[in-house]
Amino acid sequence: MRNSIRFYLGDRLYDLPDCPPTLTVLDWLREQRGLTGTKEGCNEGDCGACTVMVVRREEGRLVWRALNACIQFVCMLDGAQLFTVEDLRAPDGTLHPVQQAMVEQHGSQCGFCTPGFVMSMVAHRKAPGAVADDGSIDDALAGNLCRCTGYAPIVRAMKQAMQAGADHFDAQAEAIADRLAALEAQADGRGVRLAGPAGRVTIPADSDALAETLLADPQATIVAGATDVGLWVTKGLRDLPHIVAIGRVPDLRTITQDAEGLRIGAAVTYQDARDSIAALLPDAGEIIRRIGSTQVRNAATVCGNIANGSPIGDGPPVFIAAGATLHLRRGAARRTLPLEDYFLSYGKQDRAPGEFVEAVTIPAPGPRTLFRAYKISKRFDQDISALLGAFALTLDADGVVTHARIAFGGMAAIPRRARGAEDALRGRPWNAAALAAARAALDADFAPISDMRASDWYRRTVAANLLTRLFAETAPGAHPPETRLAGRMEAADV
Ligand SMILES: Cc1cc2nc3c(=O)[nH]c(=O)nc-3n(C[C@H](O)[C@H](O)[C@H](O)COP(=O)(O)OP(=O)(O)OC[C@H]3O[C@@H](n4cnc5c(N)ncnc54)[C@H](O)[C@@H]3O)c2cc1C
Ligand code: FES
Ligand code: FES
Repeated sequence: MRNSIRFYLGDRLYDLPDCPPTLTVLDWLREQRGLTGTKEGCNEGDCGACTVMVVRREEGRLVWRALNACIQFVCMLDGAQLFTVEDLRAPDGTLHPVQQAMVEQHGSQCGFCTPGFVMSMVAHRKAPGAVADDGSIDDALAGNLCRCTGYAPIVRAMKQAMQAGADHFDAQAEAIADRLAALEAQADGRGVRLAGPAGRVTIPADSDALAETLLADPQATIVAGATDVGLWVTKGLRDLPHIVAIGRVPDLRTITQDAEGLRIGAAVTYQDARDSIAALLPDAGEIIRRIGSTQVRNAATVCGNIANGSPIGDGPPVFIAAGATLHLRRGAARRTLPLEDYFLSYGKQDRAPGEFVEAVTIPAPGPRTLFRAYKISKRFDQDISALLGAFALTLDADGVVTHARIAFGGMAAIPRRARGAEDALRGRPWNAAALAAARAALDADFAPISDMRASDWYRRTVAANLLTRLFAETAPGAHPPETRLAGRMEAADV
């Protein structure tokens, strides 16, 4: 076992034997390193002012990710190289191409958001296959807010920067890869355990070590991407005396496809899982694109979204409708349960002390199964759902519904199936009468609450309308939809 957190900031190695478990990267940079270019705006992952870039060596290649420093803990940087806005200028003082483009396109006014934007832009340039179309740029920058420029100059700067050639990071790629390989070699597959006055950090070497750690300390807080846990600290001001960071546990970072479906390990992020899930369920891929922002999806795990148990998490209703199963482990004991059975009541899940989520399996839809998922939120990007409906209907050759799985988030204290609506559809031809029956049954399925995201009336009305939308899109002979959300504004409109 190692007793320190080791990572690079720029080209300087840090070896921290005393790393408080909940010290955020943002606080460490600003308060301990004096690097104040990285800004604090919201301190909850929403505004992107704190965006930094983290590079890791994965399967022999460098992977660059934009992350929100305000909700990442320093201990999660183990084995990585961190770059901040202070690292963007080339060693000879030349501005980075994205900085130059921001200057030329007038992309900065008060400048508070600018360090975060340029870090997102640099990271986007480094994403494999990154393109400069409006949609990709919107996705790359949706997690950065600017109150001054109106975005159009920033988008123009991004387009300009995408045309620029290599940057000084490209020139250093070999040196960075060697450095990170050396860190890996020193880590030697061992985990990390440290204890200091502020608490303990454990980074298990594998899932067996994780199982042992949690048996020994069932009260420890599992942290995967910290996009929920980070807020417990920055907004809830909670102390977490023992963090078990699982985000880099190698055997939890796997996605495999077998006869049961797509198995996604507990440390797989939404960004890394998106293509595989979208290949299985295209609508789910589109939902994932709208989970938080690029910075959030780069950290947030699929299983953390489930384990967190929020009634408005986007993944759970989608995966419940798809018929997913959850894999849990406590010590050497493993069990599997239908995902919907994991959610018991508000804030309560079927997970024993010391138990953890090992993976989720999403089965492939059958050839006659229609799958749709619709997220309703006040803002299209970077917003939590008011409600989300997911639908899997299997029709026989005569167009009769043989199986129906319908799940909603935001309609109850937990993500839940709409059993009444499902029953109303089963055995009927998928026609207007079936739709009317399902709409009526749906009203009895849920008693939603009114809160700041939506009223009870809005939730009931929209949930029923999502059934109508499903009908419009999928019923044999139904009017072809022009209702699919285009969802994006063209850069010129912004
Ligand atoms: C700005 C912002 C926007 C967001 N937008 C969305 C959105 O649009 N839709 C949405 O659904 N969510 C959204 N979220 C919430 C969050 O990103 C997701 O819930 C995310 O998937 C959580 O994953 P994580 O790996 O970050 O979990 P963490 O924060 O690391 O953990 C979350 C919870 O799960 C537990 N946990 C994690 N892994 C395991 C495991 N393997 N076994 C047992 N327990 C575990 C933790 O102990 C904790 O209780 C947003 C968050 C932020 C900050
Ligand atoms: S400070 Fe707003 S995202 Fe971090
Ligand atoms: S330039 Fe002022 S917030 Fe963006």
